[in-house]
Amino acid sequence: MKTNNTDFLVTKGYRLFQEFCAACKRDKYIGICFGSPGVGKTLSARHYSMWDDIEQIDPFFESSKYTPELAGQKTVFYTPPVSNTPKRIDDGLNDTLFKLQAVVYYGRESSENETDHDGSCELVIVDEADRLTLHSLEHLRDRYDQEGFGLIVIGMPGIEKKISRYPQFYSRVGFSHAYKPLSEEEMEFVLKHHWEKLGLSLSLDDFTDREAMASVVRVTSGNFRLVNRLFSQIQRIMEVNTLSSISKEVVEAARQCLVVGVN
Ligand SMILES: Nc1ncnc2c1ncn2[C@@H]1O[C@H](COP(=O)(O)OP(=O)(O)OP(=O)(O)O)[C@@H](O)[C@H]1O
Ligand SMILES: [Mg+2]
Repeated sequence: MKTNNTDFLVTKGYRLFQEFCAACKRDKYIGICFGSPGVGKTLSARHYSMWDDIEQIDPFFESSKYTPELAGQKTVFYTPPVSNTPKRIDDGLNDTLFKLQAVVYYGRESSENETDHDGSCELVIVDEADRLTLHSLEHLRDRYDQEGFGLIVIGMPGIEKKISRYPQFYSRVGFSHAYKPLSEEEMEFVLKHHWEKLGLSLSLDDFTDREAMASVVRVTSGNFRLVNRLFSQIQRIMEVNTLSSISKEVVEAARQCLVVGVN
């Protein structure tokens, strides 16, 4: 999945995730991150690891995509395939580790600053960890033991319980992190951004804006994915009806276009 870095909003949820990653990396622990669908787990992990930039790079070719900013990276992001075996996990993980090494190696060459980072990986983030079979989990644990990186597994709520059934893996878990939906104050920050994207400005002194905002908060319950989907409908409705402001009625009309996931 390609995400657009320029649209990434640094929320409190992301800051907490960042701290969680730093702790797992520093202490070389296993961390479990879980949260409901659409709260922003994958996007945060990709942003933290700068994976959108690293993923595009072909490690066999030197190219202008290697930048000094990437040379300091010590994290890889890996999504296991739906059906996975230890062999497939191994191959996939090796590819990502190789990419990181290339990025660091060539990035260093394009950098003016001296750095002694050798491209070794200090943190592996595994997304969609609910997919991992027992054997794949065991295999990850073995690589974690041998290679000495920190490891984060990301999944749905309930993954902590599933993992607690595997005592050897579970005994290595140092941190667990619940990724929460956006709080009301954060929604204000995110909605300001969405209003601006539509060429408007959100004013909390304006009753219509306040009412529309309350409506978005109610409809989405702070779920990032729903907010984005709702706003693509709001944009469409505004264009079709040549409207110049977002009202509660517009939000309601947009909500009705979203069939799935909205109550
Ligand atoms: N920090 C952010 N800034 C901007 N948009 C975001 C951010 N986080 C999430 N989103 C939006 O929410 C959508 C869902 O995010 P993401 O895929 O990270 O959720 P998830 O928690 O991994 O969900 P799932 O459990 O279904 O995999 C993204 O496609 C994006 O549109
Ligand atoms: Mg995800």
